[in-house]
This record gives sequence, structure tokens and C-alpha cells, in this order.
Amino acid sequence: MNRYSRILGTGSYLPEKVLTNRELEDLVDTSDQWIRERTGIRERHLVSEGETCSGLAEAAARRALAAAELEPDQIDLLIVATTTPDQVFPSTACLLQHRLGIGGFAAFDIQAVCTGFVYALSVADKFIRSGTHRCALVVGSETMSRIVNWQDRATCVLFGDGAGAVVLGAAEEPGILSTHLSADGAYKDLLQVPSGVGMGRCEDPYIEMRGNEVFRMAVTTLGRIVDETLAANRLSKSDIDWLVPHQANIRIIRATAKKLNLPMERVVVTVGEHGNTSSASIPLALDTAVRDGRIQRGETLIMEAFGGGFTWGSVLVRY
Ligand code: UT7
Repeated sequence: MNRYSRILGTGSYLPEKVLTNRELEDLVDTSDQWIRERTGIRERHLVSEGETCSGLAEAAARRALAAAELEPDQIDLLIVATTTPDQVFPSTACLLQHRLGIGGFAAFDIQAVCTGFVYALSVADKFIRSGTHRCALVVGSETMSRIVNWQDRATCVLFGDGAGAVVLGAAEEPGILSTHLSADGAYKDLLQVPSGVGMGRCEDPYIEMRGNEVFRMAVTTLGRIVDETLAANRLSKSDIDWLVPHQANIRIIRATAKKLNLPMERVVVTVGEHGNTSSASIPLALDTAVRDGRIQRGETLIMEAFGGGFTWGSVLVRY
């Protein structure tokens, strides 16, 4: 009997505070029109003082567990994808374990920036398929506003905060059909926070991005990866019901949808209200479309992401 993993429940959480494009006009030399036309973003949620990555993760995780009708102590693997952990250590996964009142099983963070959730879901799938674990909580959680330079208009208009989670359980039928991960550190300078405790400097830990070059690489790489994902599963474009993409820029999302011949009604788009929430963006989008009834059981979804590293990847799911 083959063993697979499948999504048992989804959840997400956005901090209450909202920052609109109009409010950003007072902070930097930008305009609502420029941001909407170039990115599709209208507003983003931001953490307030005292809110942390593990706190957002807890709220999303509790909602995913409730949707799966499971108690926290039924989880035996916990993975958090994040670029903005509360602390250098313990990992956000350990902090989340404690918040949920559970322990005694593997919990760790994954750092693959915007591709983090795709990496985390892929790792959890492999643990479950190997037979060593039965039920994984997989979270993407970010406080990107804490690593944004609020004086740099090229980046500060792009990012937002939030968290999304899925509960993944062992199943006889898939579930997750395939996962595809890749990275190339040769592009490390195009999108980075060039600071860190290991370098002995933590001052000004801000995102720097060569936006235009990242944009071009993202479009071509994501176009290629959706083709590779379909080919690996011997599927054609018409077999895909939903694209659940990383939400960096509506123009990148449209280009990938076009590659898949998918009308935009079949693409889950949350970038307008969430901005780019890095590893949280896919589980936030997934949960949004599951809860509003668009994504139904039995449908085929492709999730894809591209981010700093560069890292990129996809997950094909029968929901
Ligand atoms: O999540 C990880 C992956 N990240 C991404 O995929 C992001 C990829 N990059 C992008 O989404 C786009 O490159 C951006 C949205 C960041 C920028 O859009 P763009 O169409 O590539 O614009 P650009 O960087 O070529 O800049 C065009 C102009 C420049 O002015 P000049 O040189 O033409 O006079 C910029 O200075 O727009 C200017 N600009 C702005 N103007 C108003 C840059 N940022 C802003 C701003 N408001 N916020």
C-alpha cells in the first residue's frame, strides 16, 4: 500500500493593523496609482508592537487544527517556514510548540525566504510518506515589516505581515501528488538582507532588492517550473483547477497563469490585500480560497513560489 499525505485543514491569520497605499504616500515618494499598476497591491497588514512571528503562527495554526478537527497533541511534526523568526534561537517552531502546549516530537524552522512554505510542505510530505510521522503542522509566518527599510520606496511598498498553516495527515490516496524544489546561490546578491549575527553586524537588517532583475528571473523560472510539474505528473494544462501562487506581484502571477492557459478566475489572488508576505503568502491564499468555498475537495491545485537565494519550487496537490 502506498502511503501519501493530504491536507486535512487550513488556517490563516492577519494582524489587525492595515497600511494603505495612500498612507504610504505620506512616508515615501510614491503614489497609490504607481503601487497598484506595478504590483497590484492596495494595502497590507502590519504587526503592532508586541506581536511576533510565533504569535501570528499560533493563531493560524489553531485555525488549521480546528478545520482539521484535531487537537494540538495529535500533531507529531511541526515545521515553520520563516525569514523573520522571533529570536535567533530557539526556532520559531519550538516557540510555537510551547505556545500550543505540546512537545516531545520534531520541530524545526526552514529558511527559504518566499519559497519557504513550498519547501516546508515538501519536507513534511516526505516525512509522512516515509512512514515515520503521521500528522504534520506546516506553517508559514512572517513579520516582514520588521526587516523593511521604511525609507526605501522600492521595497517598503511591497511587503506585509501574516501567517498561514496547513495540517497534513497520512492517507492512502494523494494528497500531495509531487513536490519540486530548487535553488541557486549564484543569485544571492539580487535579493538579500546583507546583515546578520554571524557576520558580527545586526544594525540596519533591511531587505535590498534589484527588483527588475528579480522580476525577470521570477517570470521565466515560474513559467518553467509549472511546465516541469505538469510533465512530471503526465498532466496537461487543462487538468489544473487552481493556481495558488506566491503573492509578490500581480504581473508575475498573470504571466504564470497565462503560461498555464488559466483564466484569472482560476487563480487565487490575495496580493491586493496582503502584499508580499513571503513564506506566509501561499498558505494565506490557500486558506482564503478554501474558506470562501472556491477550492473544493478533489480539485487539482498547483502552488509555486520564487524568492531570495534564489530559491524556487512547486507543489501539486489533489485537495
Ligand atoms: O517575493 C520574492 C520575489 N520578489 C519579487 O518577485 C519582486 C520582483 N520585482 C517586482 O515586483 C518589480 O520589479 C517592482 C514592483 C519591485 C518594481 O517594478 P518595476 O516595474 O520593475 O519598476 P522599476 O524597478 O524598473 O522602477 C521603475 C521606476 C523607477 O524610476 P525611473 O528610474 O524609471 O525614473 C523607480 O525609481 O519606478 C520608480 N519606483 C517607484 N516610483 C514610485 C520604484 N519604486 C517606486 C515607488 N513609487 N514605490
